[in-house]
Amino acid sequence: MARQFFVGGNFKLNGSKASIKEIVERLNSANLSKNTEVVICPPAIYLDYATSLVSAPTVSVGAQNAYNKASGAFTGENSVEMIKDVNAKWVILGHSERRSYFHEDDKIVADKTKFALDSGLGVILCIGETLEEKKAGITLDVVKRQLDAVIAEVKDWTNVVIAYEPVWAIGTGLAATPEDAQEIHASIREYLVGKLGADVAAATRILYGGSANGSNAATFKDKADVDGFLVGGASLKPEFVDIINSRD
Ligand code: G3P
Repeated sequence: MARQFFVGGNFKLNGSKASIKEIVERLNSANLSKNTEVVICPPAIYLDYATSLVSAPTVSVGAQNAYNKASGAFTGENSVEMIKDVNAKWVILGHSERRSYFHEDDKIVADKTKFALDSGLGVILCIGETLEEKKAGITLDVVKRQLDAVIAEVKDWTNVVIAYEPVWAIGTGLAATPEDAQEIHASIREYLVGKLGADVAAATRILYGGSANGSNAATFKDKADVDGFLVGGASLKPEFVDIINSRD
């Protein structure tokens, strides 16, 4: 089954109205591959602004986090309904920065994922091991554990995109090699076959994230199980367009 190439831009805690306008206008006027689904994820405060600027037909907007309650006394949080209300379609959940700095465990990530999917958002579900876990040879154990928590809650994976983001590669300039990424992605897909069935496994997109940039993106081109990228730093720069077009 052909999986549509997917490139997400995770702006993290970066940007201003001026810089987001510049990024979106660059995407609007660029010659973007028609075959790539693009999701840009600015800080929540700029979601409404970003959706109002986007005109490129293949580009949509996502949030970087969402709470698993509809409303109420949860100071500082954003609900999925609020995210949808400003026309964003996706949310990143389980990012390693949320897991480490904000103590989000597997169960919280799974609950948030279920809540977001049930309300109609697409979820970019991040998984990945730390350097210590990689050195200990437990990468697959970690990603399986992270997936298991979500598998226990979510039955319909149609609107889930998995982002494999090895923590040691994030923001370090040390991307996984295409061969290593392919090996892990293939193992993740194989795991999904056993847990969710061959059809779901074949349809689910698995992105690579961690120092992907305009120069290395094309080197992943022939890797069958790398269905796109979740990009941090480079998504703020003109080279993001090269990543979007790297599969053509
Ligand atoms: O979510 C994207 C990410 O964590 C990768 O960041 O800056 O290494 O591309 P970066």
